[in-house]
Amino acid sequence: MVRSVIGGVGSYVPPRVVTNEDLSRLMTTSDEWIRSRSGIEERRFADEGVYCSDLALEAARNALEDASMTPSDLDLIIFATLSPDHHFPGSGCFLQAKLGIESVGCMDVRNQCTGFLYALASADAFIRSGMYRRILVVGAEVQSSALDFSDRGRDVAVLFGDGAGAVVLCPCEDGERGIIASELHADGRYAKALYMTIFDISRKPLVTPEMIEEGDFWPRMEGKVVFKHAVTRLAELVHSTTRKGGVGLGDIRYVIPHQANQRINLMVAEKVGIPKEKFLSNIQKHGNTTAASIPLLLDQAYRAGKLERGDLLLLIAFGSGFTWASTLVRW
Ligand code: COA
Repeated sequence: MVRSVIGGVGSYVPPRVVTNEDLSRLMTTSDEWIRSRSGIEERRFADEGVYCSDLALEAARNALEDASMTPSDLDLIIFATLSPDHHFPGSGCFLQAKLGIESVGCMDVRNQCTGFLYALASADAFIRSGMYRRILVVGAEVQSSALDFSDRGRDVAVLFGDGAGAVVLCPCEDGERGIIASELHADGRYAKALYMTIFDISRKPLVTPEMIEEGDFWPRMEGKVVFKHAVTRLAELVHSTTRKGGVGLGDIRYVIPHQANQRINLMVAEKVGIPKEKFLSNIQKHGNTTAASIPLLLDQAYRAGKLERGDLLLLIAFGSGFTWASTLVRW
């Protein structure tokens, strides 16, 4: 049986560190409020002129090096982001050109915080079908350009950061390692509980001066609604994905959860009865990096020497849409 394995992993974050103290000089907030509500201490922000495909390029290079491959080995690029370089074409095309290759297919996945897991499940299906053999799956974000740093946007602005993570997915026939099960879910009834208009295609013209005045350029979030649904859906995923994969909760070495809020992940750990030490985190240093958060955390755990061959990892994410998704993988 062919399974997809993670043949290489890499990440990259921009060098500029922005602390909670830094944010408290821009808006009415405090280190204490941010830490106690979310667990976040600092995040990275990209400088002006940096695109999300630039962060993705560094992460992709690291993943390719880890896989002992070059860009010309790739058959497909799948790029997950909510902060694409431009509205179109997709950031995958910009990344492909920056990697110095041509002709291989590129597709963008616009699934916000679950984008990387939607992209990974798609890559897994391509590989198991035999259509492609080496797929670069990237999650990258430059969110700092689209945050409202006035008091109006403080509930959202303090949570997010910039960064990128990538894996190279390849086929493997040893029957042990690789992706065992994935799940993809959505509930569009909550599409506006966490969303950003930027432009409204139903308006003619699609961007008006009033939209700028009304703040339609900033993300909006019903924080408590998101929080409640995240805890419920992520806990459901832990049970359903382990069941689907035919493994027990005790078999899981690490849960690699999306980094939206440390309180969410600790509540999920408690709800499902998995020790909280098994829920890895980097939200303290990076905030919520949306589509980048899971591959960034995976790469950091890998490079810190935490992951051993054969470890069972459960990747889970919840986000705007609402969408939620999971991947069970034998490392
Ligand atoms: N600094 C200080 N005060 C802030 C603030 C900030 N950055 N942002 C909001 N507040 C204020 C609000 O104005 C409100 O004030 P009021 O009570 O006077 O009206 C108060 O803090 C709300 O506090 P609280 O009810 O304790 O907030 P919370 O516990 O719901 O936490 C979130 C807010 C955003 C941290 C939380 O709801 C959350 O994390 N939600 C999920 C977010 C998420 O996961 N998003 C991404 C999904 S992928």
